[in-house]
Amino acid sequence: MRERIYLNNDWLFTEQFEESLIGIDETALDMAAAGAEPSLPELKKVRIPHTCKELPFHYFDESEYQMLCGYVRKLYIPADWSGKCLKLTFEGAAHDAVVYVNGQEAAAHHCGYTAFTADISQLAEYGAENIITVRLDTRESLNVPPFGFVIDYMTYGGLYRDVYLDVCEPIHLDDIFLHADGDMLTAEVTCAGTSTFRELLPELTLRQYMRRAKTSGTTARSTSIFEPRLGDAETHTAEDPGASLDSIAEAAGTATSEFRLMAEIPAGNSILKWHAGNVRKWSPAHPWLYEIRTELVLRGEEVLDSRTIRFGFRDAEFRKDGFYLNGRKLKIRGLNRHQSYPYVGYAMPDSIQKRDADILKYELGLNAVRTSHYPQSQAFLDRCDEIGLLVFTEFPGWQHIGDADWKAQALENLKDMILQYRNHTSIILWGVRINESVDDEEFYARTNSLAHALDPTRATGGVRCYKKGIFQEDVFTYNDFSHAGSNPGVEPKRAVTADISKPYLVSEYNGHMYPTKMFDSEDHRLQHALRHANVLDEVNAQRDIAGSFGWCMADYNTHKDFGSGDRICYHGVLDMFRNPKLAASIYASQRGNAGVLEITSMMDIGEHPAGTLGCVYAITNADSVRLYKNDEFIAEFTPEGSEWKHLKHPPILIDDYIGDQLETKEHMPKKQADAVKSLLNEAAKTGLYDMPKALYAKALTIAARYRMKISDAVALYGRYVGNWGGEQAVYRFDAVQDGRVVKSVTRAPMTRISLKAHADRTELTEGKSYDAAAIRIRLTDEKGNVLPFANEPILFETEGPIELIGPAVISTQGGCTGTYVKTTGKAGDALLRIRMQNGSTEEIRFHVTIEK
Ligand code: GAL
Repeated sequence: MRERIYLNNDWLFTEQFEESLIGIDETALDMAAAGAEPSLPELKKVRIPHTCKELPFHYFDESEYQMLCGYVRKLYIPADWSGKCLKLTFEGAAHDAVVYVNGQEAAAHHCGYTAFTADISQLAEYGAENIITVRLDTRESLNVPPFGFVIDYMTYGGLYRDVYLDVCEPIHLDDIFLHADGDMLTAEVTCAGTSTFRELLPELTLRQYMRRAKTSGTTARSTSIFEPRLGDAETHTAEDPGASLDSIAEAAGTATSEFRLMAEIPAGNSILKWHAGNVRKWSPAHPWLYEIRTELVLRGEEVLDSRTIRFGFRDAEFRKDGFYLNGRKLKIRGLNRHQSYPYVGYAMPDSIQKRDADILKYELGLNAVRTSHYPQSQAFLDRCDEIGLLVFTEFPGWQHIGDADWKAQALENLKDMILQYRNHTSIILWGVRINESVDDEEFYARTNSLAHALDPTRATGGVRCYKKGIFQEDVFTYNDFSHAGSNPGVEPKRAVTADISKPYLVSEYNGHMYPTKMFDSEDHRLQHALRHANVLDEVNAQRDIAGSFGWCMADYNTHKDFGSGDRICYHGVLDMFRNPKLAASIYASQRGNAGVLEITSMMDIGEHPAGTLGCVYAITNADSVRLYKNDEFIAEFTPEGSEWKHLKHPPILIDDYIGDQLETKEHMPKKQADAVKSLLNEAAKTGLYDMPKALYAKALTIAARYRMKISDAVALYGRYVGNWGGEQAVYRFDAVQDGRVVKSVTRAPMTRISLKAHADRTELTEGKSYDAAAIRIRLTDEKGNVLPFANEPILFETEGPIELIGPAVISTQGGCTGTYVKTTGKAGDALLRIRMQNGSTEEIRFHVTIEK
């Protein structure tokens, strides 16, 4: 039976690779690790996921992470593994890796975003320590994708995803591709092995079992293809071989914890097909998954190999007029995600990767993500399968197409991506053009046909930044950056696509069109949010657009040629620590269940030109919002008449700060009160000194009709709207759903900053490697409002078996920041203390368990 051994611990790392590390013997290695071998570079003990260089939050030079570095580790291979097949897999080695076992080359891989596997059976020494050496080139001068020109994201180096050894029988399962048409499951199974395979063939069978997956089920993944393969072995196909099994339909429909045998056929390169029967379909609303276990069985009894893959039955189809899931039209609403984090770039464990999927789905209420601009970790994809987040994934690249060697590597990357990710139910589209590259008919003919050959079940797309052109994919995917604030959110399909009869999807919008920092002015943050609302509204309005992916989920470190000069692109609806900007609430509020309420203003007149408040909106998914000023009810606002006609929950304009106070307090007759109120509320947006002519004329007419002096109106403005020279008012906004207040936001003058910190998890597990927790930190006033201009020092201390990722002193940016802690290999209770200089302190307690 197959055994998987994770090799994430006990690596030695050097920033300066030396040839002598390739054939190094055990004693020399031990001495070098102890710093007692002057002829060798300093070797530091590290764990994987590992970044070759920890970096500052911003303002650093991307050349810092570019190097020729080395990783070395010992691996004891027991004598009784002799005769087995040993497969060593690296899930992510950025960017060019050569692996040596005992001084001999075992594998070379030239892509930092796909996995590779080396069969080391012939190179291993059995009953002895073996030395694995990795020569890793992280330089951007490599002639492989995405390199060759400028790139708008950092490409951090390191062995940043899992390393493991599969110890298999000499005959084993190689690759399994699962796909379904309705409830008919097809499993394309290839086996691999030594030459004895052929002799044993008549005695081998494949069995397939199914059961419903637990939501926290085991990780499903497929391995890459490697030699020796038995491509010419007899092919067996079974159509419904399980017909004789008792009531398959019922078994599948009610499958719970037990695996049910669904099919059995002779082995070889085989195709199993069987009706799963009454299965529940996978969808974002109900991501039902099943576990399909495939066994390779000798003589009907000995299980030589077994692989379990989680699988969802779903029909995903792009049609001329949109995207259909299980026969029903579904508007795709997603964001683009980079897999990067502060300090460590790509090197974060599964739990942190999965958390991004959770944020997209549960905090932002999205149904999709585009993994721009490369395949992302299996853990992230597993989580997308599990929670029902549709995925558009693409092979690595950014605008540049290189020479023939470069293209050959790109095709290799595409092949690896599809073979390694095609069992993920969540993936609905393959990106087979280099993001935003020019037309290259010959190259893209090859990428499209390769994708279709390896996976006939999914459509291809290819992201472009210009309209029309040579269209070779199934879906036209285009970055529509046409929105500039006041024009329509996106262009119509007919203006963009090269073939109106094919499906159309917007793959990016906003982004660099309006970079926004947490600490930008209130009006800037508002405009950022409204631009996201404008695009979503227009995409909803255009019924023939399949959906859209905004740019982007979170701010990210980028090269000198992009961003704000500090090596950050502030394009996210979240900051780098995944703290939400105002724009995040536009997405969050589109969800059904009420509970979102963000007020776009802090109601501080001094933050705006001329002491006005500008336009204020309540971003909410509640029915209505009630405004109270100094505890007096002013008015209730609803989405009725909203300018965003196609959003389920449009931002609600707060356009009355007066209510009936002119009648009750100023004793004006109703008609006059209404006229004056409308005038003052209009003036609230512009201020008295910058009133449009029409509004000024209206003021004169009202003054004349009701015999008021202009100075009366000015005084009323000061009292009820502008507050200039008056005491700051307290505003309370209540979100009301079904007549009940579901959330309140109060804006009142702050008197004290307080620190709030929240960890995504406090139970950490040392498993295949270290675990980590993400902590979000906010500085708020007494009412819980984030203080957008608080840039304060924050100090961290840890106790117990955790350590910080990143520095121990940082500054908040726009009232927010974050940090990460990771486990250190030991179990027990741990503590993170977070302090401000004013003494405000938060303590977060963690518990670390070691998984057996
Ligand atoms: C696109 C590109 C993205 C990002 C974005 C910024 O052109 O595909 O990677 O750079 O612009 O808005």
